[in-house]
Amino acid sequence: MKVIQIVAKGENNEIGCNNEMLWHLPKDFKMFREATLNNYVIMGRKTFESIGELKQRQNIIITRKPNEIKISKKSWVSSSFKETINFISSSINKKNKYKILFVIGGQSIYEQTIDLCDEIWITEVHSIFKNADTFYNIDLSDFVEYSRIKNYKDEKHCYDFDFVKYNRITKN
Ligand SMILES: NC(=O)c1ccc[n+]([C@@H]2O[C@H](COP(=O)([O-])OP(=O)(O)OC[C@H]3O[C@@H](n4cnc5c(N)ncnc54)[C@H](OP(=O)(O)O)[C@@H]3O)[C@@H](O)[C@H]2O)c1
Repeated sequence: MKVIQIVAKGENNEIGCNNEMLWHLPKDFKMFREATLNNYVIMGRKTFESIGELKQRQNIIITRKPNEIKISKKSWVSSSFKETINFISSSINKKNKYKILFVIGGQSIYEQTIDLCDEIWITEVHSIFKNADTFYNIDLSDFVEYSRIKNYKDEKHCYDFDFVKYNRITKN
């Protein structure tokens, strides 16, 4: 099972404010949707409250209060990353149609899962967002960039932004 963190961040690593996104970039939404479709998505309870359940993906919501969350029967609620990863790994050989576990935020979930990640996909938004209250404070020194696609601002996109992919550096 490949584990990928996927995040969009500003130039100061900003990712959110008041439990919402800081920008509206349709091309980024499209990329996120296409990448995560028919895969696992794991998110913290606050991000779940912000974006809800994502269709055509196996949603996993992390919370310490599993009984307080209202979700459909299709989604899973877990209070442990380890439990979740073990469960997914144990079912992987049993006709499992999902191949990738995407970690989709927010800040606390990115920080706690970085050691489990094989890749990081970052949308770098080329602006500064002074009102941000959550950040992607991840040290990328164990990762190497292998792909970058530039996007330029237009009538639907207020900022330039790059899709950047990182691989974990393998140590011999
Ligand atoms: N730009 C992006 O790409 C992006 C992506 C996603 C989110 N965001 C933004 O990020 C912000 C949310 O981030 P956040 O850090 O505040 O919240 P979060 O990570 O989404 O959720 C935090 C919650 O997850 C649960 N949790 C965390 N660690 C846990 C553990 N070890 N065991 C069990 N439960 C655990 C707790 O839920 P309980 O309190 O229920 O126990 C905790 O309150 C929002 O502004 C959102 O818009 C941005």
